[in-house]
Formats: sequence, C-alpha cells, structure tokens
Amino acid sequence: MRYFITGGAGFIGSNYIRYLLNRNHNCTILNFDDLTYAGNLNNLSTINKDNRYSFVKGNICDFQKVDEAFDQFHPDYVVNFAAETHVDRSITNPDIFVKSNVLGVQNLLQVSLRHEVKKYLQISTDEVYGSLGKTGTFKETTPLDPRSPYSASKAGADLLTQAYFHTYQLPINITRCSNNYGPYQFPEKLIPLTILNCLNGKKIPVYGDGLNIRDWIHVDDHCSAIDLVLHSGLPGEVYNIGAHNERSNIKIVKTIIRILGKFQPGLNISEDLISFVKDRKGHDRRYAIDSTKIQKNLKWEPSIPFEKGLEITIHWYLDHQDGLESVITKDYQLYYDKQYGKKIS
Ligand code: NAD
Ligand code: DAU
Repeated sequence: MRYFITGGAGFIGSNYIRYLLNRNHNCTILNFDDLTYAGNLNNLSTINKDNRYSFVKGNICDFQKVDEAFDQFHPDYVVNFAAETHVDRSITNPDIFVKSNVLGVQNLLQVSLRHEVKKYLQISTDEVYGSLGKTGTFKETTPLDPRSPYSASKAGADLLTQAYFHTYQLPINITRCSNNYGPYQFPEKLIPLTILNCLNGKKIPVYGDGLNIRDWIHVDDHCSAIDLVLHSGLPGEVYNIGAHNERSNIKIVKTIIRILGKFQPGLNISEDLISFVKDRKGHDRRYAIDSTKIQKNLKWEPSIPFEKGLEITIHWYLDHQDGLESVITKDYQLYYDKQYGKKIS
C-alpha cells in the first residue's frame, strides 16, 4: 500500500508516519511537505533511514510539483495533514491560511482525481463547528460555524472535499478531531509552550480568564482513528474523533506545573509563573466532540487516559530538551515577542 502523506514533517503527520511504519510492514510512504516554520525533518529522525519512507519538499499549492510526485509514486492513499494550523497566526496573517488550507486542498483533490486514488482523507478539525456554550457537543450533523480565519479555511477545505465526492465521485473521507497533545508538537501551542516556559522559568501566558475549554486527545489515539477511517470509512462520510477529555486551559496549565514541579524540584516551578494576558480575538469558549459515530460504526476507541498521556508527554519533552531548543529560532522568538509583548518574554 502506497501512502502519499502531506505535512508529514509536522506534529500529527510525523506521528502518523511512525504509526504506519511500526504497524504496517507492507507500506510505502512519500512525505510531501514544504517545511514551513512548523515543519521539521528532525521529527522523523528515528525513521529516515527506513527504506519504506521517502521525502519530497514541495508545496501543496504547486499543481505541477504535486502531479509529478504522484506520477512517480503512484499513491493508493492520500492523507492531507498539510496546513497552516495556529489560530493566533491566522488572526494576524490570514492570507497564507486561505492559500495553503483552501487552494492547496483543491489542488490535491484535483491531482487525486486525475490519478484515481483509492481514498483521499482530509484531516480536519472540530473548530469548523464553532463554539459551544456550557452544554452540548459537536456531532457530524452540527452545522459548520467557523469563527477564526483558521477554522474558516478548514471549513472551506471540508466543503471542497465533499464537493469532489458528490460531483466527481472521488472517494473521500473527512475526519474532525479535537485538540491533540503528545510528542513533537511545535512549541507555539498551549501544552508544549507551558512545558517549555516552566523549564525556562518564563511566564506562562493564559488568555482571558483561563476558563475556555478544549477537549484533549493523545496524538496516537488520533493516528489510530485516522488509519481506521482511511481503510474502513464509508466513502463520502465525515467522522468526528475525540476522547472526552474536556479541560479548562487554566486546569491544564496548573496540572503541568504540578507534574513538572514534582519531577524538577530544583527549578522552582510554581503557579507564580501564570500570567493572565489579553484574550485571543474571537476566542471560542468551549469545544466538546461526540465521537459516537466512529466508535459505533468502525469500532474505534481511544486508549490513552488524559492524565497518564500528559505525564508521558511531559517526560518526553524533558528527555528532548536539546531538540526543542533548536526549534526556538530567531523567527520564532520574533513571533513570540510580537504575540505576547516583551514583558512576558
Ligand atoms: P503542524 O503545524 O504541526 O504541521 C503542519 C505541517 O504542514 C508542517 O510540516 C508544514 O511544513 C506543512 N505545510 C504547511 N503548509 C504547507 C503547504 N502549503 N504545502 C506543504 N506542506 C505544508 O500541524 P499539526 O498540528 O500536525 O496539524 C496537522 C493537521 O491536523 C492540520 O491539517 C490541522 O488542521 C489538523 N488538526 C490539528 C489538530 C491539533 O490539535 N494539532 C487537531 C485537529 C486537526
Ligand atoms: O481543536 C483542534 C485545534 O486545536 C486544531 O485544529 C488547531 O490546529 C490546533 O492549533 C488547536 O487549536 P487551539 O487554538 O485550541 O490550540 P492552542 O494550543 O493554540 O490553544 C489552546 C487553548 O489555550 C485555547 O483556548 C487558547 C489558549 N491559549 C493558547 C496559547 C498559545 C492560551 O491561553 N495561551 C497561549 O499562549
């Protein structure tokens, strides 16, 4: 089986490539990634000598480059992870989100149709459903109501993907997952940012009142769901993925402080590091995903309890501090200073 994986140098894509290589001896993988600030080939350093794996640097918006790569590789399956993914960056610079997340997806769909792939899987997000109040959950039938440029671009991609199914019968699926955590996540996101700031004695920026809620899933559980949908999902269908771990941001931050304080007693890690900062514009209040459909129809279940997964993740970051420091480039520092202001840097 031949897998064309886009965005495989990022967080979830690199974990999915490792997941496939560990479980599927007959797979051949081409990782097509443009290595933006979030793409890092070191995320794949443990497997880059595996002869089932190869890499091509390219942008999903480049029709010719994608088409050439398909001509040479002849994929059975396309899994599209490639995207601009950070909500805060979409607020300050939406253009690139429309380019990569909408136009890039249309390009991939067109090439996938031309090469008659067995399945195209669009990796989407629960953010396309908008924001919940105190109660309720997102189901696959919940109307799309994206509220940030990031989520609007992902919703646009979902609609295009469905259009290619209905209009051209391209066999597609869409997965909509909640917030992922685990190894190799870029440090701009809440969990790795909190861990790194604790280790470096820096303030932890918490937006607004800290009571916004996200629904967390370990990246390995997301990978097992993706693989199942790719092979067993009914063409044309959308599947929600989540593990029922709703937590407020402040609770997440305090849990990380508690765990790190225990394992790094010399570092003086305490709740004094928490700094409440100006809220994110249009900040969605609560996400909670109902994944009954994939659990019932495809017999999927998450397997990693949140507190255990978080502790393992924290240990992973402790063991990989050198690699993480190399991700903190000058560009990232500039982004960080601009995003949070000098007083928190
Ligand atoms: P990430 O930001 O860590 O990685 C994105 C990868 O895509 C990088 O390797 C980058 O170089 C590559 N890329 C970006 N634009 C590209 C382009 N135009 N052409 C080729 N490559 C390009 O992202 P992630 O967190 O791993 O997310 C992967 C996918 O999963 C995204 O589509 C995202 O919307 C979706 N998703 C993420 C989460 C989450 O919690 N992280 C949850 C649900 C869905
Ligand atoms: O729900 C799935 C989505 O989860 C994915 O589609 C996105 O690609 C991914 O980035 C993630 O989006 P969020 O905006 O939820 O993730 P982030 O880690 O940026 O923020 C999580 C919560 O923490 C959110 O409520 C904002 C808050 N936050 C975030 C940062 C970076 C803070 O309070 N302080 C911060 O510095």
